[in-house]
Amino acid sequence: MLDDIKKLQQNLSEEINEAESTETLEKIRIKYLGKKGLVTKLMRSMGEVPAEQRPEMGQRLNTLKNTAEQLLEEKQEAMKYGAESKRWEDEKIDVTLPGRPFSVGRRHPLSEILQEIEQIFTSMGFKIAEGPDIEHDYYNFEALNIPKEHPARDMQDSYYISSEVLLRTHTSPVQIRTMEAMKGALPVRIIAPGKVYRRDDDVTHSPMFHQVEGLVVDKDISMADLKGTLLLFVQEMFGEGREIRLRPSFFPFTEPSAEVDISCIICDGKGCRVCSETGWLEILGSGMVHPKVLEMSGYDPQKVTGYAFGMGVERIAMLKYGIDDIRLFFNNDMRLLEQY
Ligand code: DAH
Repeated sequence: MLDDIKKLQQNLSEEINEAESTETLEKIRIKYLGKKGLVTKLMRSMGEVPAEQRPEMGQRLNTLKNTAEQLLEEKQEAMKYGAESKRWEDEKIDVTLPGRPFSVGRRHPLSEILQEIEQIFTSMGFKIAEGPDIEHDYYNFEALNIPKEHPARDMQDSYYISSEVLLRTHTSPVQIRTMEAMKGALPVRIIAPGKVYRRDDDVTHSPMFHQVEGLVVDKDISMADLKGTLLLFVQEMFGEGREIRLRPSFFPFTEPSAEVDISCIICDGKGCRVCSETGWLEILGSGMVHPKVLEMSGYDPQKVTGYAFGMGVERIAMLKYGIDDIRLFFNNDMRLLEQY
């Protein structure tokens, strides 16, 4: 028995040493330690060993079994480690490879334009005012001299939350909210940027778009102030050579009212496709604040006057960047967004 044990011990060590794959190791394990394995068989035959030798043989056999298990495990580990270090060798890091660039976000072109507009007006002394997107009929229409059945409402249909509450169709309600809040104080000199909503949807109209409203109320404000301020704005925004033209128009909340055009930025006023051969491009609506509007908001039209204007931010951006489809601003195509 002792010889058998010694022999097994030696063969086992040799075989494990020579093994080159985990499969071979598993075979060795089964060969020696499996149910019908050589070591197992020896253990089963302990009954045949004379009683006085049994304790010693038992101990030796146990040691053999434990050693076998340990050797197998060690070899297994060594193989794993070897495989790993080989992998590392195969995947040698190339420190000369250029790094992977990661993209940095940026402001949306409309936000850029909005910021530019705000910057031009704040540098002229305007403050920024804001109002809610969900607006009351009173501020959106009634207080702007657009009563319930007025035809001007037709052009500004919107989403109604209830019969008196809607998504605002323009930023003009901020005029009213500002004058109310100032309670007759002078001067009022604000711009109000924000989102507006209308039932409109084509290449130049989006159901949601942006406007910037302007309002100045003070003693002796005249149309000349309006024209001077807008001329300065247009030249800052589109370049020094730009001219403006005021065309008579109608808005219920201004009297007189004017549509403001700029000399075409493509042909410089000579006439081209973009300006329909007129040499002018319409950019905003404006006028002198209607006496009724001043009065409803707590200002005395006998003592003060004011002007107001409203411009579409998308329109300005389209003219400035030469974009011919308003939807390009909102479908998040990186090819467009990365250009500006
Ligand atoms: N609120 C008008 C619109 O959305 C634009 C407008 C015109 C605003 C004249 C004004 C103004 O303040 O004076 O069509």
